[in-house]
Amino acid sequence: MSINPPPFNLAAVEAVTPHIVANVERILQTHRYAADDRDHVARLMDWLAPAEGASIVDIGCGIGEVARLAHEARPDLRFTLVNISPVQLSYCPTGDGFDLVQCDAHAMPLPPESFDYALMNSALSNMDAGPALKEAARVLKPGGALLVTDFLRLYGDNSQFERDLGARALTVRAFRDLAYEAGFMAKTLQFGGDDAHFRALMPEHADHILAGVTYGAWRLTKIDNDMMNGARREIGKHMGDVALRALIASPDNVAAQKLQNDLCSATLMHIGTGPETRVCLSCGAHTNEEGALPCGH
Ligand SMILES: C[S@@+](CC[C@H](N)C(=O)[O-])C[C@H]1O[C@@H](n2cnc3c(N)ncnc32)[C@H](O)[C@@H]1O
Repeated sequence: MSINPPPFNLAAVEAVTPHIVANVERILQTHRYAADDRDHVARLMDWLAPAEGASIVDIGCGIGEVARLAHEARPDLRFTLVNISPVQLSYCPTGDGFDLVQCDAHAMPLPPESFDYALMNSALSNMDAGPALKEAARVLKPGGALLVTDFLRLYGDNSQFERDLGARALTVRAFRDLAYEAGFMAKTLQFGGDDAHFRALMPEHADHILAGVTYGAWRLTKIDNDMMNGARREIGKHMGDVALRALIASPDNVAAQKLQNDLCSATLMHIGTGPETRVCLSCGAHTNEEGALPCGH
């Protein structure tokens, strides 16, 4: 698989890390969800919601501050800290509850299905998102969850952003598509966040750098076989039909029109939106009181 990450400048990041850590920040994220680091990490962990004794891989872990604060609050959790930067790893917590792995997140020397949870905080944007999400999915157990917080592109393109930050901001649609292709179901948690920390670090450049981007948080769940089989069983019940749950409230909407074009003889079933009705996509007839389609298509 060819990997095409943005031009992440490891030497430059390593050169500024000691200064940033000593004078400014220990959490290397542009956007915050709370006024102080402890509450910010508490919010991230609320979103991840790890079970008792869980294993968590923090991919692109910075100096491990998120893991350190999370472990203080939840000593039952075990963290594996992954970073391409040996300098940043040298600042990470060690000892009981922490394993450090220096590697590229696109190809981690970690066994498949070995973690309950994963974190990627402000890290995916430094990577080639598709392969990096697939790699995260590989090391997660089926049903495991990955918390992603990162830049999102609202408008404009990434050329300047890649040059300034060595990062790439995905659109919502691109992110969701890549997450799905990697085998995840995505739940959006929040758009936006407080970027005052980042603006204070780069007061002259922040407006320029942050133009056209916001920040997003998602909880991705690795789809497991039970989920897939459940979905297949549901679909199997409606062989020959197209089953849509709550997506289509009215047969006149755009999705229904599109289905009608693509699947001219399909039957559209309205499920979970009140009494079940069926609409023939060939002629638009609705089910009668006996629940049958009068048109016979
Ligand atoms: C903006 S920092 C975020 C750090 C950390 N997640 C935090 O919240 O403090 C991005 C991190 O990703 C790491 N990183 C970037 N590209 C990487 C790669 N290909 N493989 C592993 N780590 C990478 C960087 O060294 C850095 O630690």
